Amino acid sequence: MIIAIDGPAASGKSTTARLVAKKLNITYLDTGAMYRALTFQLLKSNVDFDNLDKVSTILGNLTIDMYDHKGTNIIKLNNEDITEQIRSSNVTKNVSEVSALLIVRKSMVVMQREIGYKSDCVVEGRDIGTIVFPNADFKFFMTADIKMRANRRLNEMNQSATVKTFDEIVLDLEIRDDKDTNRENSPLRKAVDAVEIDTSELTIDEQVNKIINHIKNN
Ligand code: DC
Repeated sequence: MIIAIDGPAASGKSTTARLVAKKLNITYLDTGAMYRALTFQLLKSNVDFDNLDKVSTILGNLTIDMYDHKGTNIIKLNNEDITEQIRSSNVTKNVSEVSALLIVRKSMVVMQREIGYKSDCVVEGRDIGTIVFPNADFKFFMTADIKMRANRRLNEMNQSATVKTFDEIVLDLEIRDDKDTNRENSPLRKAVDAVEIDTSELTIDEQVNKIINHIKNN
């Protein structure tokens, strides 16, 4: 069984998808973390994103492991724990550019399908219901008011060392939404058969229950 959850940044996808997977006791796949891991590696290796030969070599040597540890989705790249590094502002600023590259998308889709075909999964991202798993058993598209999304990001940041103002966060989200929605390859889109959930006024529990109830009743 594949449950696809797509939506823009900070729409509540990640936490919801992780909890839905936990409740159903199936795998959780955060595809954004895969694009972030690649971006981290390209930045670390000082690879220019236009240098497709080098990007392709790095892609070919990429081993990403993901697993849950006490409620945190641990991301390992070639055995190095990069869970925190992939959330840095530098990775966040560059990830949309990296994920717009066709060779990157082609290779990530292959890896994501391999994982999805091996076990039942909740797969979260931007193009899951449209491109990666167009025949997913269930598809959801999560949205939320930009101010709500910025507030959520601000709360997350207050727990870390990063300092940004509310207005800066709104601008960051708008720029990333624009790049993810208007890119040529696999843009962020709601699949025609996806159930849209506006999370602006919902708690995490309510978001999770909406999805679980829909799955149970269909
Ligand atoms: O979900 P996230 O914010 O961690 O995703 C980071 C970036 O990765 C996002 O801005 C666009 C890209 N992405 C993508 O292009 N396709 C996906 N399926 C998931 C993420």
